[in-house]
Amino acid sequence: MKNHDSAFARSPEPLLDLAALRADTPGVERVVHFNNAGSGLMARPVLQAMLDHLELEATIGGYEAAAARAAETADFYTSLAELLGTGPGNIAYAASATHAYTKALSAIDFRPGDVVLTTRNDFISNQIAFLALRKRHGVQIVHAPDHPDGSGVDVDAMAALMRAHRPRLVAATHVPTNSGLVQPVAEIGKHCRELDLLYLVDACQSVGQYPLDVEEIGCDLLTATCRKFLRGPRGSGFLYVSDRALAAGYEPLFIDMHGARWTAPGAYTPVATAARFEEWEFPYATVLGCAAAVRYALRVGLEPVAQRTPALAGRLRGQLAEIPGVRTLERGPARAALVTFTIEGWQARPFKAALDARGVNSALSYREFAQYDFTDKEVEWCLRLSPHYYNTDDEVEAVVAAVAELAGSAR
Ligand SMILES: Cc1ncc(COP(=O)(O)O)c(C=O)c1O
Repeated sequence: MKNHDSAFARSPEPLLDLAALRADTPGVERVVHFNNAGSGLMARPVLQAMLDHLELEATIGGYEAAAARAAETADFYTSLAELLGTGPGNIAYAASATHAYTKALSAIDFRPGDVVLTTRNDFISNQIAFLALRKRHGVQIVHAPDHPDGSGVDVDAMAALMRAHRPRLVAATHVPTNSGLVQPVAEIGKHCRELDLLYLVDACQSVGQYPLDVEEIGCDLLTATCRKFLRGPRGSGFLYVSDRALAAGYEPLFIDMHGARWTAPGAYTPVATAARFEEWEFPYATVLGCAAAVRYALRVGLEPVAQRTPALAGRLRGQLAEIPGVRTLERGPARAALVTFTIEGWQARPFKAALDARGVNSALSYREFAQYDFTDKEVEWCLRLSPHYYNTDDEVEAVVAAVAELAGSAR
């Protein structure tokens, strides 16, 4: 396998060698990419790992290529285990964070009246999944209230609801899609562990942006994508399953020949590891791209990333807030690299299109994405800008200048 770690070859102990990291990121030549919360720009080693594998598949055959790259594929599990502070057998590949999430939900034998305790800022698809469980299985959905200071869910109130309802599942999204809010997932986890409650965390926007330790969070299940702040390819994600949950026998509703052994005509046995949540068919090039992305993140270092990325976003947020007609929407002390704002005088799509035309990648969020949060904030839509560590202060200034120009010519 080629050594693609070009940034690190020049800098053995990199403390964010920005020039090298940008040289590794072809996309920065073309755009100001402030849509990392949508999908991060892939680094060259990620792209190359995938291209190499596709070429190998075309040259020697798909099954043969998978066999030839078995060790590199195994690194998907070992690298993620290192990233999350767990073992390789606790990780399952999934095609998306949502796929991982619904597989996890399918493992729970919900009965009518069971309670799902969640927050007002959990991800849209998770909320829809809970509503679907209510429709089909009669579960009750309880939303813990937010703390009045804007710091996210009120953990004491949530703990009281845990004691009152003994929920079948506690679910929290670490960083929602629609704002830079950082939810206190480890504090919630402490209560779940004390009360022995099943705890599912959506870490889709926090993985790759902050160091994560599943033991510290105290979760049984954790889901994420690889394509956002981890800078992996699209169509990828993963599920962490704790030893506790594996030993308790949680398995997805539909388990296949990869996740289980068909031990007798009338019997099957799930495999011992989190692989029971996977399927037999794998997009190997994608999995190898993810492994390269996770290794890359580990080499860059999650501590320096967590220092730089939200700080860069903080500077962006602060400068945007100075522009007349712009209202930034984040509240509370802990803010991730998702900067959301409204702008007077513009409709959503023309505003985003105007930024696109200025070479700035961004994303729109609508009330439908965050029924509780946007209702509280009284907004119908907002623009989301999400820089990453490889973005620069010059880019922040260019984006602020573009927004200021547009605010001045509102229509
Ligand atoms: C917080 C959060 N959770 C889950 C998801 C869903 O991820 P995926 O599109 O990989 O299913 C997203 C996507 O934006 C997200 O922001």
